[in-house]
Amino acid sequence: MKRTVLTVASLAVLAAACSKPAPKAPEAKFDYSLDMKELMGHVVDPGAWAFWHASGTVETAEGTKSNAPTTQDGWDAAESGAAEVMEAGNLLQLPGNTRGAEFNAFAQDLIAKAKLAKDAAERKDEAAMFKTGADMYQVCVACHAKYVMPAYIKIRDASKYPPLPDWPADVKARQGAFASKAK
Ligand code: HEC
Repeated sequence: MKRTVLTVASLAVLAAACSKPAPKAPEAKFDYSLDMKELMGHVVDPGAWAFWHASGTVETAEGTKSNAPTTQDGWDAAESGAAEVMEAGNLLQLPGNTRGAEFNAFAQDLIAKAKLAKDAAERKDEAAMFKTGADMYQVCVACHAKYVMPAYIKIRDASKYPPLPDWPADVKARQGAFASKAK
């Protein structure tokens, strides 16, 4: 008997839920006064660098030095940087910012990679930070290759300009030394 009452009660709840209009999302209003350049320069780039500066190693006269933060604030800043890049991936897909489905796919990939970077910083995992930071960078490069570089190359018609100067001799010699070492 108890069960019947319960069933009737749940049916009533279900019926009420069905007759209620679907919740309507409040109308959003976006401000697009930051153009793509500003969104990149003031949000995406600083976020990414906050993370990259805290990852990997640097060669110094005293030997290899880790860039890993030494304070909790430092780890938090690296994690926040990755979080900014994640959220920027959402911003890039806003109706007024997106340049189409493929552009959105790059933005979604950026979110996925930045999320892994954020997790690595939260775990204070230096090796994972190096790897995830590099993976995140690959997405920047891939999207720029498709949406930025062709436009730049078009503007700066290379055939109209003299070729770029060669590397200075001492740099070139060192490059050769690196190349033969790598073989
Ligand atoms: C979904 C595509 C996309 C992704 C992903 C992306 N960018 Fe960009 N980025 C652009 C576009 C488009 C421009 C060119 C803006 C313009 O010139 O109008 C740009 C320009 C820039 C600029 C130049 C801004 C200026 O002032 O000229 C920087 C710096 C930059 N991006 C950094 C980054 C970094 C760092 C990442 C990765 C963490 C990244 N971008 C990921 C699309 C992308």
